[in-house]
Amino acid sequence: MSNMATRWGICSAGKISHDFSVALKTLPAEDHQVVAVAARRLEDAQEFANKHSIHQAYGSYEELARDPNIDVVYVGNIHPYHLKTCLLFTNAKKNVLCEKPLAMNTREVTEILDSAKKNNVFFMEAVWTRFFPVSVEIRRLLAQGELGEVKMVRAEFGMPLMHRPRLIEKELGGGALLSLGMYCLQLVCMVYNGEKPESIQATGVCLETGVDETVVVTLKFSRDRMAMFHYSSSLQFLNDAVIVGTKGNIQVPSQMWCPTSIIVNGRETRFPVPEPRLPLNFPNTTGMRYEAEEVRQCLLKGLKESAVMSHADSILLAELEDEIRRQLGVVYSQDCL
Ligand SMILES: NC(=O)c1ccc[n+]([C@@H]2O[C@H](COP(=O)([O-])OP(=O)(O)OC[C@H]3O[C@@H](n4cnc5c(N)ncnc54)[C@H](OP(=O)(O)O)[C@@H]3O)[C@@H](O)[C@H]2O)c1
Repeated sequence: MSNMATRWGICSAGKISHDFSVALKTLPAEDHQVVAVAARRLEDAQEFANKHSIHQAYGSYEELARDPNIDVVYVGNIHPYHLKTCLLFTNAKKNVLCEKPLAMNTREVTEILDSAKKNNVFFMEAVWTRFFPVSVEIRRLLAQGELGEVKMVRAEFGMPLMHRPRLIEKELGGGALLSLGMYCLQLVCMVYNGEKPESIQATGVCLETGVDETVVVTLKFSRDRMAMFHYSSSLQFLNDAVIVGTKGNIQVPSQMWCPTSIIVNGRETRFPVPEPRLPLNFPNTTGMRYEAEEVRQCLLKGLKESAVMSHADSILLAELEDEIRRQLGVVYSQDCL
C-alpha cells in the first residue's frame, strides 16, 4: 500500500459496523476512506451505504471479497460467524481487522490466524481498548517502571444486558465472558505482557441457556503476581480497573473498556474521544479510530500483525477464555467439532 488513504471495506451492516464507520470519519479523509459495505441483504447494505455516504453496497460478503479496490476489511458480524467470514477474506488475500471476540474458541482462532499467515495478509483482532491513549500511557508507565513491580490487577465490567439476545442465546455467541469479561482479561494480559498465568480460577452463575452471566475470576502469575476480575451481563458494576505495583498505582475509572481518563498515584489525566457525527450504538466508540489508525500504520509498514495486539495475544486470550468456560461448564457447539 502506498501513502494514499487506506481503503476500508465494511463487512456487515450491524450496530458495531455503524459505530466503526462513524469513528473512521473522525480521522482525516486523506488517511481513511470507506469504499464499500457488504451485508447479507442488499437492502441493508444500501441503507448503511446511504447513511455513511459509501459509494459501493454489496448484498453478499463474497462480492466484497472480490472487490480489488479494498485494502482492508473490517469484520463486524457476530462472532459465531467470524471463522467463516474471516477465512473468506483471508483466502481472497484481503487484510482484516475482525471484531472481538475473534472467534468462539482457540481452535477457531488458530484456524483464522493460520489462514492469515498462509495468505500473507495483515490480521488483527479488534481489541480497540489497547489503542486508546489511556492504554498507551499505561504501557509507557509500566515500561518505565513507574509502578515498581506490578503485583495486582483488578478489573470489572458489568451492565444489565438481559434484553440483548446476542448476550443470552448460545447460537448467537451468548455469554458475558466473550462480550464483556474479555475486556478485563485483555487488560490483565496486557499488564502482564502476554505471560501465561500459573493458575486461573473461575466461579460463576450461568443462565438457563447454558451461557455465563455473572462470574468472578482470579489468576496467579509467577513471582506472586495476581489478578482478579468480575463481569456480569445482568448487574451494573462500577466498571473501573486498578493496577497496583510496589511503588504506585494506576486507576482507570469507568468505563475501563473505552477509557478516557487515568489516575496515576492520585493524579488524573483526561483523554477525551472526539464527538461523533451520527448517534452511536455504544459508548465512546469514536475511540475505535485508534485501532483503525494502528491498522493503517501496520499496512504502511508492510506488517502482517500489530505488536500491540499480536496473533499470540489473540491465542492467549482464546486459551484463557476456553479455560474459564471449561470451569463454568459453558460449551458451544463449536467446541464439539
Ligand atoms: N468493540 C466493541 O465495543 C463492540 C461492541 C459491540 C459488539 N462488538 C462485537 O461486534 C460483533 C457484532 O456486534 P453487534 O452488536 O454489532 O451485533 P448485531 O448488530 O446484532 O449484528 C451484527 C451483524 O451480524 C450479522 N448477524 C446478526 N445475526 C446473525 C445471524 N443470526 N446469522 C448470521 N449473521 C448474523 C448481521 O450481518 P449483516 O448486516 O450482514 O446481515 C448483523 O448486521 C460481535 O462479535 C460483538 O462481540 C464489539
